Amino acid sequence: MPKMEKVAYITGGSKGIGRSIAEALLQEGYFVAISGRSESIHEVGDALNSRHPDKVLSIISDVRNFNEEQNAIGQVVSKWGKVDVLIANAGVGHFASIDELTTDQWNDVIDINLTGVFHSLKASVEELKKNKGYFISIASLAGTNFFAKGSAYNASKFGLVGFTQAVMLDLRPYEVKTTTIMPGSVSTYFNGNTPSEKDHWKIQGEDLGQIVVDVLKMPSRTLPSKIEVRPSFPHKK
Ligand SMILES: NC(=O)c1ccc[n+]([C@@H]2O[C@H](COP(=O)([O-])OP(=O)(O)OC[C@H]3O[C@@H](n4cnc5c(N)ncnc54)[C@H](OP(=O)(O)O)[C@@H]3O)[C@@H](O)[C@H]2O)c1
Repeated sequence: MPKMEKVAYITGGSKGIGRSIAEALLQEGYFVAISGRSESIHEVGDALNSRHPDKVLSIISDVRNFNEEQNAIGQVVSKWGKVDVLIANAGVGHFASIDELTTDQWNDVIDINLTGVFHSLKASVEELKKNKGYFISIASLAGTNFFAKGSAYNASKFGLVGFTQAVMLDLRPYEVKTTTIMPGSVSTYFNGNTPSEKDHWKIQGEDLGQIVVDVLKMPSRTLPSKIEVRPSFPHKK
């Protein structure tokens, strides 16, 4: 009987880092579910499915809403019977000095980058325990380095690093592995950027895809629990 391939659920898979991780896992033979807030997630799902037939499930789900994340995990389990890997990647940034930062911006960043990850993990944790699975959060170097205009984003990512390290200890007894990846500048659509030649010095999404694949292939006895990733040659201003 052929070995059942692993199943991964990636939040924020419509573009940027999440989409690159989806491509990398598909190359490795994974079944991959991707989610995002809008219909565009289905166009991305169709494009990926055309190259990897029947390997991709696209789901509209907003990580701010726990019921939607529960429904998303339910869809993955209905289709493929399990979830082995959760990649909590969905995230946004609003950058403003504290006197200018609005409460809506604060709430958006905390609700998506921090509470959203809690929702995705809470919805999938029993699956991960059952399958001795893997939880990866995409945090940021902003989870250890603070900067002006970063109060909301820094708070969300410092919080996410702490959250992920604490649940790493909760989940280890179940043989569920947990890693937080903390990238520096990545060429994506983040904060209104459009990837182009000017991003040549940044980490590329495919590089993070490779890191995720390498982490998932690590011998089960070894756990890289926190990984900082930075451009090798920082941009000269
Ligand atoms: N780019 C960087 O330099 C960098 C560095 C360090 C860490 N990060 C982190 O990497 C992660 C991915 O960001 P990116 O750079 O790939 O940005 P991106 O290109 O803007 O992609 C963000 C993704 O998150 C999804 N998303 C946003 N809000 C969501 C919500 N409420 N529910 C579900 N999905 C949502 C977006 O999908 P829809 O818009 O379709 O919903 C999109 O797929 C974020 O957590 C970010 O903080 C980025």
